[in-house]
Amino acid sequence: MIIAIDGPAASGKGTLGKRLAAHYHFRHLDTGVIYRAVAKAVLDRGGDLHDEASAVAAAMELDPEKFGDPVLKTQVIGDGASVVSAFPRVRAALVSFQRQFAAEPPGAVLDGRDIGTVICPDADVKIFVVADPAVRARRRTLEARARGEAADEAAVLADILKRDERDRNRAAAPLKAAADAYLLDNSQLDIEGGVRAAIDIVEAVRAGRLRD
Ligand code: C5P
Repeated sequence: MIIAIDGPAASGKGTLGKRLAAHYHFRHLDTGVIYRAVAKAVLDRGGDLHDEASAVAAAMELDPEKFGDPVLKTQVIGDGASVVSAFPRVRAALVSFQRQFAAEPPGAVLDGRDIGTVICPDADVKIFVVADPAVRARRRTLEARARGEAADEAAVLADILKRDERDRNRAAAPLKAAADAYLLDNSQLDIEGGVRAAIDIVEAVRAGRLRD
């Protein structure tokens, strides 16, 4: 079984993905980390994020061993990820890694921007997570502060809005809900409430109570 979770920056899809995977004993891939790792690799080499050839080279040499690097979580790298991820050849270089991950038993949860539309268009369940930008900025700010980083909520909100705009309007695999995705509005839900809502969607699809 493949569960695809897409949504804008800081919508809570990563937490939902992790919790759904734990619930079903599936593997979990936060695909944002892949694009973040590409951006970091370009910067580490002193390259220019806006140079497609440098970004493609970094994508082709992707090292999943480095996905746990805490630096990948920072705002600078997230912003860089949204620049390199707009290059079609960068995206193309990363498709097979994601599809192979999705295909391995016993099942997988992938979260990102184009999982339900491009990477796993045949996913068993697709969930598109949304939340008010102000709520997303608040959560991201608190997360950053919990990691010991100084975070200004207004700047975090501006970054989220800029990233959403770039991700929605790019030509290659723009952020959008698949036609057969279920919308989960996370604005008023805490983590447990969001997880329950997501499990309810998966269970309803499995039981045939929702179109699939
Ligand atoms: O989800 P996260 O904030 O970690 O993603 C960082 C950036 O990577 C996003 O803003 C987006 O530009 C890009 N991304 C993408 N496709 C994905 C996952 C992330 O383009 N499947």
